[in-house]
Amino acid sequence: QPSYRIASIPGDGIGPEVVHATIQVVETLAKILGTFQIEFTHIPWGTKYYKQHGRYAAEDCLETLRQFDAGLFGAVGAPDVPDHLSLWGLLLAIRGPLQLFANVRPVRTFPGTKCPLNTATEGIDWVLVRENSEGEYSGQGGRSHVGQPWEAATEVAMFTRVGIERIIRFAFETAQSRPRRHLTVVTKSNSMRNGMVLWDEVAAAVAHDFPDVTWEKMLVDAMTVRMVAKPQSVDTIVGTNLHMDILSDLAAALAGSIGVAPSSNLDPTRKNPSLFEPVHGSAFDITGKGIANPVATFWSAAEMLSWLGEKDAAVQLMRCVERVCAAGTLTPDLGGSADTQGVVDAVCAEIVKLG
Ligand code: NAD
Ligand code: IPM
Ligand code: MN
Repeated sequence: QPSYRIASIPGDGIGPEVVHATIQVVETLAKILGTFQIEFTHIPWGTKYYKQHGRYAAEDCLETLRQFDAGLFGAVGAPDVPDHLSLWGLLLAIRGPLQLFANVRPVRTFPGTKCPLNTATEGIDWVLVRENSEGEYSGQGGRSHVGQPWEAATEVAMFTRVGIERIIRFAFETAQSRPRRHLTVVTKSNSMRNGMVLWDEVAAAVAHDFPDVTWEKMLVDAMTVRMVAKPQSVDTIVGTNLHMDILSDLAAALAGSIGVAPSSNLDPTRKNPSLFEPVHGSAFDITGKGIANPVATFWSAAEMLSWLGEKDAAVQLMRCVERVCAAGTLTPDLGGSADTQGVVDAVCAEIVKLG
């Protein structure tokens, strides 16, 4: 029987709430199916760790993570620490350095949940592919003359041909694996005349290798309109680190709630363990209330199982989650009145029925 070791990094805010919820569900799934074993190891990185140790993650955090088959991450960020310190201290200190360059963010309207778009009567079913290792998140730039009226600051978006080509290729493969075989390459090559133009050129070159995929390019501003006005015309979308960060929150809200949106930070070469997390953050406004929607993290865990080779377990888990949503056991972000543990209990009850 295969056995998987998972690094669990709950982090801050509602992160620990949704990760705790997910571990209960995945452990129940493993027990009932009996086809694989899974062991979660708690790793305490986050703001509490920072206040004790002066850093967000251990110095050898990458080596630590390499000992696991995958990671399950909650969220990071606290009201009393500047966000750029927490994020560059933990999450962004993992994604880039571990070369988890393909960030996959599927978006789907669940049965029983409302899609707020009257233009999408059948709901939404998209996959957003985000470049996850460079671009606007390269960490290049700086400040000079701090505090002076002539202070200057730069945030350099650095794109490499290798970095663009590998994500575009990955996106074409993703599009190819879906029934509609359609890819939209999002850029902003009218105003950004270097990196974005290189994106357009690389996309056109890579497209030759995928004659069975229809593709088009689209400017990111126009893409926001299209996602709202013609959601049915969209299938797989690829774009830069920052553009897809923004479009993925929009997409999640259009599908029903940010509380259901998953995110897989993949190293497609499989040299490093991949990291799975909800799209949302630490949500200070609802932390401690017990009402965080755990579905985004359940779905992220299902993506993790699938990545590890447990496709059947992943499908079964998502069926259970969808049954629970269809039955109306929903947290307040989806218009329901269930709490986090109520959703966990309902999903576990569905899993037990599989046995
Ligand atoms: P957020 O995603 O934390 O919250 C935005 C809104 O969505 C809030 O109203 C929140 O209550 C709601 N929401 C989010 N997740 C939910 C869930 N599971 N169930 C129900 N409602 C949910 O975004 P923010 O407010 O911009 O950021 C808060 C903090 O989190 C900041 O420090 C930010 O930097 C950080 N952040 C971290 C990550 C991450 O670790 N991956 C992602 C985004 C933001
Ligand atoms: C996300 C988050 C992060 C990002 C932040 C918190 C650094 O918004 O995962 O979508 O921009 O990648
Ligand atoms: Mn984001």
